[in-house]
Amino acid sequence: MKTLVIVVHPNIEQSRINKSWMQALQEQSEVTVHQLYPAYPDFKIDAAKEQALLEAHDRVIFQFPFYWYSSPALLKEWFDRVLAHGWAYGPGGDKLHGKEWGIAISTSGPQISYQPDGHNHYTLDDLTKPFKATSSHIGTTFITPFILNGVTRVSDEELAQNTLDYVKFVTSMQPASV
Ligand SMILES: Cc1cc2nc3c(=O)[nH]c(=O)nc-3n(C[C@H](O)[C@H](O)[C@H](O)COP(=O)(O)O)c2cc1C
Repeated sequence: MKTLVIVVHPNIEQSRINKSWMQALQEQSEVTVHQLYPAYPDFKIDAAKEQALLEAHDRVIFQFPFYWYSSPALLKEWFDRVLAHGWAYGPGGDKLHGKEWGIAISTSGPQISYQPDGHNHYTLDDLTKPFKATSSHIGTTFITPFILNGVTRVSDEELAQNTLDYVKFVTSMQPASV
C-alpha cells in the first residue's frame, strides 16, 4: 500500500500540530509527503504532475488545519485543477477508482463546539461532507477522518501521543466512512 499525504498549510514553520504530524510522517519510508504551499506559492498547480503522483499511490490523505469550516484555499484550487473531467470523472475518468481517500484535520474549536447545539452549530461530519462527496464522485473509498479538536488545549504529551496515533492512521488499513 503506497500512501501519499498532501500537506496543505500556508505557514508550516509557525504550525504546531500539522508540523508535528508531518515531521513524523517524513520518517516513514512507505509514505510520500507532498506539501502544496511550498510547491505552488503562486497557486499555479501543475495538474499533470499532481495526477502522475496520484496514479503512483493507492491511498491519498489530505492533511490540513481547518480554516473557515473547510481547507486552506490552495487545496480548493488543487481540486479544481487536478480532478479533471475525463481523468477523475466523466467518460474515461476512472484514474482514481478504487483508491482510498481521506482527510486529517486539526481544529481550534473543541469537539463540543461541533454539535447542533454547540458554538459551531454543525458536526465535523456535516462540515466535511464536500470531501466525502468528492471522493464518491471520483470512485474512491472515503476513509474515516482523523481529527484533532481543541488544539490550543492539547499538551505537548498529548500531541506526542496523537502524532503516534496519526502515523498509525496513515500507515495502516482504515475503515471506510459510513
Ligand atoms: C484563517 C483561519 C481560519 C480558521 N478557521 C477555523 C475554523 O473554521 N474552525 C476551527 O475550529 N479553527 C479554525 N482556525 C484555527 C486553526 O484550525 C488552528 O489554528 C489549526 O488547526 C492549528 O494547527 P497548526 O498548529 O498546524 O497551525 C482557523 C485559523 C485560521 C488562521
